[in-house]
Amino acid sequence: MDIDTASPPLLERILDDLASQGWSVQPLALPAGLTAELAAECRRRHAAGRLARASVGRGSGQLIDEAIRGDHIQWLGRGETPATDRYLDLLDELRVALNRELFLGLEDYECHFALYPPGSFYRRHLDRFRDDDRRTVTTVFYLNDDWQAQHGGALRIELPDGEERDVLPAAGTLVVFMSGDFPHEVLPASRERLSLTGWYRRRGSGPL
Ligand code: OGA
Ligand code: MN
Repeated sequence: MDIDTASPPLLERILDDLASQGWSVQPLALPAGLTAELAAECRRRHAAGRLARASVGRGSGQLIDEAIRGDHIQWLGRGETPATDRYLDLLDELRVALNRELFLGLEDYECHFALYPPGSFYRRHLDRFRDDDRRTVTTVFYLNDDWQAQHGGALRIELPDGEERDVLPAAGTLVVFMSGDFPHEVLPASRERLSLTGWYRRRGSGPL
């Protein structure tokens, strides 16, 4: 991503991590100003009643079950605000790099704002649907200033060796992982928890 000045650059660090271990956690991945604009936009949409209870499952099997997940979401489209378009542009740079370096054949990106009210959570799950394996790489970008461990709300990722990694949802942290390989959960928090969650998808293999 062209705004990054760290060495090695952000895209390279993400690609190296994905190639070697299948997941990557990058603090302060985007400029603080953009992160703040995205957080404000998420709050504005929530205040305007534009975020809806998230459902679980797919197609006609969708249902709202707060014992599984309690977040509120809104899918992002192009042309909504400069900040969301900038975000989608940056994430598209990552898509192109993933295809060029790791030959993943990612065709598109779907992404939503998510707001977890205090006390809500998302139980352990995989991001790949049983009947649809197009979701290939997951991204989560956090929007929460001054997040402390005692606020809870960690993303808990289960690694192949059974170890767990907890990631705090601190503003600017970007998490990327292979969607089919890492069961994960969102632990309950004592404060509101905002993020942008998305998936790079491949072309479908079977009839859908
Ligand atoms: C999801 C998810 C993780 C997070 O939306 O599928 O796992 O940390 N989100 O918000
Ligand atoms: Mn998930």
